[in-house]
Amino acid sequence: MSRLASGVVLVTAREEPLDPDDPQAPSGEDVGMTATAFMSVSLDPPLVLVSLREGSRMDDLLDEQPLWAVSVLSESQRHIAGRFAMKGRVSDRLLFADIPYLRGEATDAPLVGGALATLECRTEQRVSAGDHTLVIGRVLTASLPSADGGPLAYFRGRYRQLG
Ligand SMILES: Cc1cc2nc3c(=O)[nH]c(=O)nc-3n(C[C@H](O)[C@H](O)[C@H](O)COP(=O)(O)O)c2cc1C
Repeated sequence: MSRLASGVVLVTAREEPLDPDDPQAPSGEDVGMTATAFMSVSLDPPLVLVSLREGSRMDDLLDEQPLWAVSVLSESQRHIAGRFAMKGRVSDRLLFADIPYLRGEATDAPLVGGALATLECRTEQRVSAGDHTLVIGRVLTASLPSADGGPLAYFRGRYRQLG
């Protein structure tokens, strides 16, 4: 599968505080995960799919949080892909600190500034498939933060640019 060239996206979601009524409860945190297993599924209704490793932080979060977002990364955003692919990190708070982003109206999830496209989604279906979960989401909003610019691609284990 490393011979299948793909685009690279950042999946994001907002982790809610455990108990929003408890001022002592830890505040919600933005979580991100680099993914290439992302595809368009249906036009009517608009559905997309992301495949998440079972037990990954994003898989655990989307099991509880139906609202999430996807930012399609541009060739100048390789550093974002790199940092959100690191294993074993405890918190994503610092990882978002120097990244320009907007908060999605429909999902509250971070939408990366300068991404080629951003989508906000609500989970319609979760399908357990081997060691991954296929999360199918309905697209709630779509926008194009950066009209120009080439895509960040991934091929044979390396980030690439077209051309
Ligand atoms: C280029 C690239 C693509 C990736 N694509 C996926 C993916 O589609 N699905 C997935 O579950 N993990 C994917 N990963 C791995 C996750 O980004 C990584 O496991 C995660 O951010 C680390 O968090 P975790 O410790 O909770 O797994 C990819 C990593 C890289 C570098």
